[in-house]
Amino acid sequence: MSIVLKTDNLSKSFGGVKAVHNANINVEERKLKAVIGPNGAGKTTFYNVLTGYFSATSGEVYFMDRNITKMPIHEIVKLGICRTFQINTLFIGATVFENVRIASQIKNGGSYKILSSRRSLKNVNDKTWATLDKVGLKDKAKSFANELSYGDQRSLEVGIALAGEPKILLLDEPTAGMSDGETKRIASLIRELTNDITVVLVEHDVELVMSISDSISVMNQGEIIAEGTPEEIRKNELVKKAYLGERKN
Ligand SMILES: Nc1ncnc2c1ncn2[C@@H]1O[C@H](COP(=O)(O)OP(=O)(O)OP(=O)(O)O)[C@@H](O)[C@H]1O
Ligand SMILES: [Mg+2]
Repeated sequence: MSIVLKTDNLSKSFGGVKAVHNANINVEERKLKAVIGPNGAGKTTFYNVLTGYFSATSGEVYFMDRNITKMPIHEIVKLGICRTFQINTLFIGATVFENVRIASQIKNGGSYKILSSRRSLKNVNDKTWATLDKVGLKDKAKSFANELSYGDQRSLEVGIALAGEPKILLLDEPTAGMSDGETKRIASLIRELTNDITVVLVEHDVELVMSISDSISVMNQGEIIAEGTPEEIRKNELVKKAYLGERKN
C-alpha cells in the first residue's frame, strides 16, 4: 500500500492563532481519506497549505515522496493535486458544459492548440461529456451555472476539478447545502472516484464519513488528534471527548 500524500508536523499560524499545529496525515493511494472536526478546527487551512494557497509556518508536505512544501500552486496542480472550495467558484455566466470544457481545455494544452485541431477539440468535448455523465449533470449541460440548484452547483465543482484529471482530489464539504438525495448521489460518486484516484474529503456529516471512508483523520483546535479506520475512530476516547461526544448524530 503506498502513501501518496503525507505531512510531517505541518503548521500554519495567523499571528497568534495556531490554525494548524504539527499536523501529520498519511493518505494512501486510491483510498478515501476523510478529515473531520468541529468548526474552526483548521480543516480548510490545512487544505490551503497542502495545495499551496498558504505557505506553511513550519513542517513539510510530501506528494509521492517529493517535498512540495514550497511549491507554487500551478506546479502543485501540474503534479495532479486538485481541490474544490468550501464556497462555490463557478463561472456563473457560462453553461454547465462550458464550465467543465474550459477546465478540460486548460488541462489539455490551452485554447489555441485545441481550436487549431478538430481532433483535439473532439477529444475535449468527449471528455467533457464523460465528466458531466460522471457527476450526473449531462441533462443540464446547457443550463447556466447560476440556474442550477445548490447541490448541482456543488456537483459541477467536482466536475470541474475532475476535468483537471487529478491524481488526488481534495474536497472541502462537497455536500454542504445538499438535500438528502443529492448527498447520497455525491457520496456514491466520491466512493466511485477511488477506483481511479485518491480522494481526501472534509465533511461534517459523521455518519456519511463513517460509511464511505477507508481512513479518517480527526482535527481539533489545529491538531490531528487521531487517524484510523472508521471503527477505530468511533472507539477512540480522545475523539469521543473532543468531537463525537458533543454531536447529536
Ligand atoms: N486567512 C486567515 N486569516 C486569519 N485567520 C484565519 C484565516 N483562515 C483561517 N483562520 C483561522 O484559523 C482557524 C481555522 O479555520 P479553518 O477555516 O481552517 O477551520 P475549518 O475547520 O475549515 O472550519 P469550518 O468547519 O467552519 O469550515 C480559525 O480560528 C480561523 O479563524
Ligand atoms: Mg472549512
